[in-house]
Amino acid sequence: MSADDELIAAARTVREKAHAPFSGFRVGAAVRAKSGHIFAGCNVENASYGLTICAERVAIFKAISEGEREFNAIAVVTDAATLTPPCGACRQIIWELCGDVPVILANLDGKIERERSLNLLPRPFDSSHL
Ligand code: THU
Repeated sequence: MSADDELIAAARTVREKAHAPFSGFRVGAAVRAKSGHIFAGCNVENASYGLTICAERVAIFKAISEGEREFNAIAVVTDAATLTPPCGACRQIIWELCGDVPVILANLDGKIERERSLNLLPRPFDSSHL
């Protein structure tokens, strides 16, 4: 299995854990740290809606809280025919914490697309502007 396939498989598996009672839209994400470890996260919704956290941020924050600081790639898996790109908030987090990494989008039918995070968030704001 390729490294990308392994990341997609982790995102697909964790998607089953999604807590999405309001939207019913289940998302799984997995990030690969340069250490080689994979960290996976699902979306966790909240009755106030606005406190919902996306799968991508759960995966990245899990990795950060385990001491990881450098990343190779992130995968996002849903059951949507049109592949699901990260929301704006997640694009900012991916850029700041992962840098310019491949963002691998996939669905349960095996459709896969790749895009670099800098292409998803052109001219990003980050600590270099402070
Ligand atoms: N969601 C994610 O987890 N990641 C994305 O890339 C897009 C949206 C979640 C948030 C919410 O729980 C549900 O999908 C519908 O927006």
